[in-house]
Amino acid sequence: MDAKTGSNLKTAQLTVGDKSWSLPIHQGTIGPDVIDVGKLYAETGMFTYDPGFTSTAACESKITYIDGDEGILLYRGVPIEQLAEHGDFLETCYLLLYGELPTPAQKTDFDYRVTRHTMVHEQMSRFFQGFRRDAHPMAVMTGCVGALSAFYHDSTDISDPHQRMVASIRMIAKMPTLAAMAYKYNIGQPFVYPKNDLDYATNFLRMCFAVPCEEYKPNPVLARAMDRIFILHADHEQNASTSTVRLAGSTGANPFACIAAGIAALWGPAHGGANEAALKMLAEIGTPERIPEFVKRAKDKNSGFRLMGFGHRVYKNYDPRAKIMQKTAHEVLSELGHRDDPLLQCAIELERVALSDEYFIEKKLYPNVDFYSGITLKAMGIPVNMFTVLFALARTVGWIAQWKEMIEDPSQRIGRPRQLFSGATRRDYIPISRRK
Ligand code: SDX
Repeated sequence: MDAKTGSNLKTAQLTVGDKSWSLPIHQGTIGPDVIDVGKLYAETGMFTYDPGFTSTAACESKITYIDGDEGILLYRGVPIEQLAEHGDFLETCYLLLYGELPTPAQKTDFDYRVTRHTMVHEQMSRFFQGFRRDAHPMAVMTGCVGALSAFYHDSTDISDPHQRMVASIRMIAKMPTLAAMAYKYNIGQPFVYPKNDLDYATNFLRMCFAVPCEEYKPNPVLARAMDRIFILHADHEQNASTSTVRLAGSTGANPFACIAAGIAALWGPAHGGANEAALKMLAEIGTPERIPEFVKRAKDKNSGFRLMGFGHRVYKNYDPRAKIMQKTAHEVLSELGHRDDPLLQCAIELERVALSDEYFIEKKLYPNVDFYSGITLKAMGIPVNMFTVLFALARTVGWIAQWKEMIEDPSQRIGRPRQLFSGATRRDYIPISRRK
């Protein structure tokens, strides 16, 4: 079977002992075909077993396609390289949500709708006061985004298409405001309100870096870089946090609660937390001379250490986003006069050493989107503890698009995986007086 273009087969044969079953094969437009095991338990009394879902398609989707061997990423068929080069983030949001690039009129209307939902309920600012100032911004975001459902009851009825779209626009619009508030709260500065005459990325940077004492001067190079970083992180098929959002949404939970679940899942260092971990790793390495020591540790199974920002469940080639992120890192550092940033030099040398090492070549470990993003964000003045918050900000549109697609799929039902049970078989209760 050609995994790239699928096969022409319509069924797969499963033989267990002297019994055989025919399982339907479904074909997509591109990518691997799937063997439908939906009736396997009913017909055979057996489950499939695939911890980590390395060979499991949990849904059918039309949103994002990844070819991990070729290093290809398409949003609704459009290559990420072209969107990053020619598009902007809100245009990408429209594409992910509606399935087509917007016409000029649709773009103007969509930008208007998002821009006019950027404020949050004024009482949300009191919600922040409950956190310690040194609370990790991801903890604040998980709490505050989940709390949005307490403020926007008029867009939590998931059976109403209008409310679904209002909630989607609200999430995309309010995430930058909440993220900037989490940052301002963390550093003890006053919150800055959004301004409707600024584009999405400039508005976010201003809410982060403006202070009441002086006029904020936008830097169009940095705003363009931030907008491109949002595009690169917008969606990525059925990754761990998106699968979390889909599973939460399958129970009928409101969209704000589902996105909060996605934020919590993204926080892990194996997932969205890798950008923060990668920068900390580069800072710990410090100089190119120490790279061999860290590469040696990464190859030692017993060290428990991995090169953060390297490797990927799907990409067994260069993550196309990492290439664009590296280019953006160079642009930002040049603009800011940090051309010789030691972290960037370290990252470039670490990439060179790792990609020429037999271990990384054999395991097909390449830099992923998180490897260069931290260097870029740090140079822009974003603190390390805000890196994953920015990832969550950008990924919100992907989570929302995937959630909407699931809710609008007539065949969707509550997700409920089974298990291979290897625990104790039935045994009676022993009163504590008789336990040794
Ligand atoms: C993201 O899924 C997505 O799409 C996620 C994402 C998105 O946009 O949503 O792309 C965002 O999460 C990117 C990944 C960020 N995480 C990291 O950079 C953390 C470091 N990388 C890894 O921990 C790891 O590569 C994963 C988690 C990304 C992938 O893990 P897999 O697919 O389960 O692979 P694995 O752990 O089974 O590793 C395969 C082999 C292992 O060796 P063996 O057991 O086969 O001998 O490769 C080794 C691993 O030890 N390996 C690494 C390594 N990553 C994998 N060895 C050293 N350094 C690494 N970074």
